[in-house]
Amino acid sequence: MPDIPLLDGQDGARVPAIGLGTYDLRGAAGTASVRTAIDAGYRLIDSAFNYDNEGAVGRAVRESGAPRDGLVFTTKLPGRYHRHDLARWAVEESLNRCGLDRLDLVLIHWPNPSRGLYAEAWRALVEAREDGLIGMIGVSNFLPDHLDRIIGDTGVTPVLNQIEVHPYFPQDALRAANAERGILTEGWSPLGKNSSDADDPEVRRIAEAHGVSPRRLLLAWSMPNLDVFGIDLTADDMTDLAGLAGKHEGADPATHEEL
Ligand SMILES: NC(=O)c1ccc[n+]([C@@H]2O[C@H](COP(=O)([O-])OP(=O)(O)OC[C@H]3O[C@@H](n4cnc5c(N)ncnc54)[C@H](OP(=O)(O)O)[C@@H]3O)[C@@H](O)[C@H]2O)c1
Repeated sequence: MPDIPLLDGQDGARVPAIGLGTYDLRGAAGTASVRTAIDAGYRLIDSAFNYDNEGAVGRAVRESGAPRDGLVFTTKLPGRYHRHDLARWAVEESLNRCGLDRLDLVLIHWPNPSRGLYAEAWRALVEAREDGLIGMIGVSNFLPDHLDRIIGDTGVTPVLNQIEVHPYFPQDALRAANAERGILTEGWSPLGKNSSDADDPEVRRIAEAHGVSPRRLLLAWSMPNLDVFGIDLTADDMTDLAGLAGKHEGADPATHEEL
């Protein structure tokens, strides 16, 4: 794998442009998979309290021997722990589970706006960062009004907002809203959310024209300027793939409850 470029975020934060999702990697097999990815060159690893794998992923990071400075171990704070004291407790528990001396990046997993506690959770993350428990803090699945609320409350802007992004749900407006606020967009489910997403005739046609698999094409769409997929997407390809937008509805953070 070639070296993965770093993206520049707020306050000197640097985040690898490609990461490994781990929501389904657990136990010894999960540790082995993450270890293989790190050995291959991955330096951004995406875990979560709710994936029940901070231990398995943290072990892979520890045993890999990769320098801690360049490796971003990410975890996420669940909705049931948004209350200030519980959020602090959850951060400390994540640290215990992963066995690392700091969490490199912690995100609020979903805003759960019906509970109205995400701003409290954000304050707890800001404090945990000040106390040295966390390197960088960010959010996931936040809409512009959620972003403005936490930034207005604390004056602290998230380094990134991890949101669902793929050609079926490109989220142009939310990506622009992130950029306007100096927030990096990190995409989840870049391979598409359903197994059938790669079977779309338009995806297959363009993938075949480039001699790559449909999944590889979907990944290349996410980062058209990144020269690691061996695919040069043309302006016509991008226009044709833009036609997929709206075919599948993504999750709506205004109503989605994830505790
Ligand atoms: N912040 C959030 O709320 C949130 C939400 C979701 C995900 N995430 C993050 O994003 C990561 C990726 O999630 P994901 O939903 O995209 O899961 P995924 O495991 O990457 O799978 C997505 C789709 O790609 C297919 N696929 C996976 N590996 C493949 C391969 N090697 N070759 C061909 N097809 C393959 C799967 O097909 P099959 O179904 O046939 O296996 C599935 O349909 C997660 O691990 C997590 O870190 C974050």
